[in-house]
Amino acid sequence: MKPNKNTYILAIESSCDDTSASVLCNDTVLSNVIANQEIHQKYGGVVPELASRAHQQNIVPVVQQALKQANIDKKELDAIAFTRGPGLMGSLLVGTSFATSMAAALDIPLIDVNHMQAHILAHFIVDDGEGTRCKTQDVRCKTQDVKCKTQDVRCKKQDVRCKTQDVRRKTQDVRCKTQDVRCKTQDVRRKTQDVRCKTQDVRRKTQDVRCKKQDVRCKTQDVRCKTQEMDEITPTKKPSFPFICLTISGGHTQIVKVRSYFDFEVLGETLDDAVGEAFDKSAKALGLPYPGGPLIDKYAQNGNPNAYPFPKPKTKNKLDFSFSGFKTAVMRFIQKNVKENPKFIEENLTDICASIQNGIVSILMDKLKETVKQTNIRQIAIAGGVSANSEIRKRLTQNKYAWKTFIPPMAYTTDNAAMIGIVGYLKHKHGKISNENKIATARLKVDE
Ligand code: KG4
Ligand code: ZN
Repeated sequence: MKPNKNTYILAIESSCDDTSASVLCNDTVLSNVIANQEIHQKYGGVVPELASRAHQQNIVPVVQQALKQANIDKKELDAIAFTRGPGLMGSLLVGTSFATSMAAALDIPLIDVNHMQAHILAHFIVDDGEGTRCKTQDVRCKTQDVKCKTQDVRCKKQDVRCKTQDVRRKTQDVRCKTQDVRCKTQDVRRKTQDVRCKTQDVRRKTQDVRCKKQDVRCKTQDVRCKTQEMDEITPTKKPSFPFICLTISGGHTQIVKVRSYFDFEVLGETLDDAVGEAFDKSAKALGLPYPGGPLIDKYAQNGNPNAYPFPKPKTKNKLDFSFSGFKTAVMRFIQKNVKENPKFIEENLTDICASIQNGIVSILMDKLKETVKQTNIRQIAIAGGVSANSEIRKRLTQNKYAWKTFIPPMAYTTDNAAMIGIVGYLKHKHGKISNENKIATARLKVDE
C-alpha cells in the first residue's frame, strides 16, 4: 500500500570529539545516539589524534545502536548523510569513509552536510514522537495489508466449501428420493448446512466490511504521513525566513542571516577565539576539566554575577566578536588574585564563574541587540554547544526586547547527528544531492 512514502535517513557526525549517529523519518528523529570521548578530559582539550582513534572504535557500535533504537533495518534507508566539515580532518575522515562505504554497499545516495548549517537547521527537527508514529503507521499499514489478504484467502476457502456443500446437497437430493428416512435426516443436515452457509456469508460480509475499514484506515494514515511531510517545514514553533541565528560553539561564533534552508549570510564572526573557547579556557585557568563551559554554568548558579567585572572587547565591525582579550583578562585576574591568596579560587569559585558567565553572555546579548538594530529582523535563534548555557537561555526566554526567540532543545545544542540528519533530509527532499563535495573538508564556511 505505501512501500516508501517516508524518507529514512541515517546521519553520521564525527567532526570533533563526539561520535554520533541518528535515524530520521522525514524531519522527525527516531534515534540520536552520541558517544562522548572522555579521553580528552585529562589533556584539558581535544587531542585530534586520539579523537580520530576513538571515532574509529565508536562508529560501528554507535551506528548499530542508532538503527536498533529506530527499529529500522539498514535496507529501509533512503540515504546516508555525513558531516563534510568543518572540523578535525582525522575525525571527519572516519565519518566520511564509513558513510561512503555504507552508502555504496546499500546502493543509496550519500549526502554531504555542512556542520555549521546543521547547527542552525537543528531548529527544524521534529522530536515529539511523530517519527515513531510515522514508523508505526508504516508497520500498521503493512500488517493491515497482510490481514486483508488473509481474510480474502479465508473468504475464498469458505466459497469453495459452500460450493462443495451445494454439490453434496444435490447428491443427497438424489439419494433422498430413494431413501425417505435418510432424507429426513439429510433434510435436517441440509438445513444445518444452510444455516452454516448463511453464517459464512455473514462472516464474509463482515470481513469485507473490515477489509474496507482497514483500507480506509491505511489511506487515512497515508494522508497523515503526507500531511506530516508537507507540514514539516512550517509549524508554528520553527523560525520562518529570514531569521538571525547566533551560532555559538567550541570552534565558532557567528551571527548568520538565514534566508532559506540553503541561503546563509555571515553578518559577523569572531576575529580570534570562539565563545566556547572563552568558557573552556577560563575554566582551565580555574583548574576545571575539559569541557569547562558546562561546569562554569553549574557553579555560576550559586554565585554573584556582578562580583568581578570583565571587559567587553570592541570590534571594528560591530557584529564581529573578539574573545581573546576577554580570556586573557580572566587568566590575568585569576593569576593576580591567586598570588595574593592561594585559596582565592576555592573561596570564590561560584562568584568567579557567575562573573565570567555574565561577562560572556552580556557580550552575546549586546551583539544580538546591534544585529536587530541593523537588520530589523526580530526572529532570533541560537545554536551550537554554548546555546546549552542556562544564562543565555534565560535572557532570551525573558524576552525583554520583543523578539521572537528560538532556543533549541538541549539534545540538539552540542554536536549530534540528528542535526546532520535534518539537513540530509532537506537536501534529499529538494534534490540537492550532487556527486561533488563528498570529501572531508576541515575548513568550511557556513555558506559553502
Ligand atoms: O557545538 P559543540 O558541541 O562543539 C563544537 O562544534 O565546537 O560545542 C562545544 C562547546 C564547548 O566549548 C563547551 O564548553 C560548550 O560548548 N558548552 C557550554 C555549555 N555546554 C556546552 N558552554 C557554556 N555553558 C554550557 N552549559
Ligand atoms: Zn558543533
